[in-house]
Amino acid sequence: MSSLPLESIIFTSEPISLKILNQLLLPHETTFTSINTIEDGHTAIKTMQVRGAPAIGIVAALTLAVDLARKHKDSYFHTPDAILSDVKKSLNFLKTARPTAVNLFRTVDDLSVLVEERTKQNDSMDDIIEAVVRNGKQMLVDDQKVNTAIGSYGADYIYDSVNRHEKKLKILTHCNTGSLATGGYGTALGIIRSLYFKGHLMHAYFTETRPYNQGARLTAYELLSDGIPSTMICDSMAAALMSNTEIDAIVLGADRVARNGDTANKIGTYQLAIVAKYYGIKFIVAAPTSSIDLNTVSGKEIIIEERPSEEVVKVAGLLEDNREYGKVLTTPRNVNVWNPSFDVTPATLITAIVTEYGVITKSPDTNEFPDLAEVLVK
Ligand code: MRU
Repeated sequence: MSSLPLESIIFTSEPISLKILNQLLLPHETTFTSINTIEDGHTAIKTMQVRGAPAIGIVAALTLAVDLARKHKDSYFHTPDAILSDVKKSLNFLKTARPTAVNLFRTVDDLSVLVEERTKQNDSMDDIIEAVVRNGKQMLVDDQKVNTAIGSYGADYIYDSVNRHEKKLKILTHCNTGSLATGGYGTALGIIRSLYFKGHLMHAYFTETRPYNQGARLTAYELLSDGIPSTMICDSMAAALMSNTEIDAIVLGADRVARNGDTANKIGTYQLAIVAKYYGIKFIVAAPTSSIDLNTVSGKEIIIEERPSEEVVKVAGLLEDNREYGKVLTTPRNVNVWNPSFDVTPATLITAIVTEYGVITKSPDTNEFPDLAEVLVK
């Protein structure tokens, strides 16, 4: 496996082009898919060719950029107002791709404001489109910096607080929160990477993350690429692992953190938090501020996406002949399935939230996070 940084979103300006690493085919096939239109971007997000809250936001922004640039080249627009009305239509469509991760909605709101302001101040069509392109490129670059900061803050916090520097750490994670889910490096996986690069990691454990196997397919791929010592468990083995092995901390990502700290993340996060509480293990959420939604007061307001039953009854992978990638039905046909893609972990079960600005901890008296709106203003 290569030690080159894993790039899952490739954007070029001259000529303008966007390609994403198709995560449905990983780890066995490395295929990049071109995104040329709003429909392409919507499909890529909805079908999870690209997934992970920050990556979804970035790809939405870059999709708008390539779509506008292509239309402008074809002389599709005659006035800046025509661009604005096209952008509104495109953004309204893009935000229907997935409902839970707040990053998509934040991107849509920001782009809407950006194009509206540029139109109001009588910018030329070239300038408006250039601003959208610059915005998308900047999101990609900024997210990488955000993640290395989260990695460093999180690693130092865990190393300082868990065992006062006495030994290397064993960390458990869930889903995929790495380079594939972000602009690069990763959030929770960024913390694991930082611990490893600082020489503080003994071992990373990760769940396979049913039903979509983001752990088995994607986290495994990233950890092996970096040579980080790791072991996969089935989701149902987490309590057994915690009772058999001294896990120092569990680190996870977030699709949306509410103002009180309640956190929506990949299905299975909540049960890990309950078991962590039983064993007194620190439960740490790694979330860029772009995943914190101050308009959502508590987790009760978060819409949880339900995905097709096919994702539960079929497993995708390399078929036995080792040549063909395909899906295998593992259940009787027509079995009833419930497939929520995320769950909400109440703030009471979360030890700390790591952002690019530092670590947010709770008051020991109330076991509550400070109002995140106040923390983020500082
Ligand atoms: O359904 P997915 O694969 O998009 O879900 C991803 C997760 O739940 C991640 O943990 C979360 O988006 C954080 S990624 C840095």
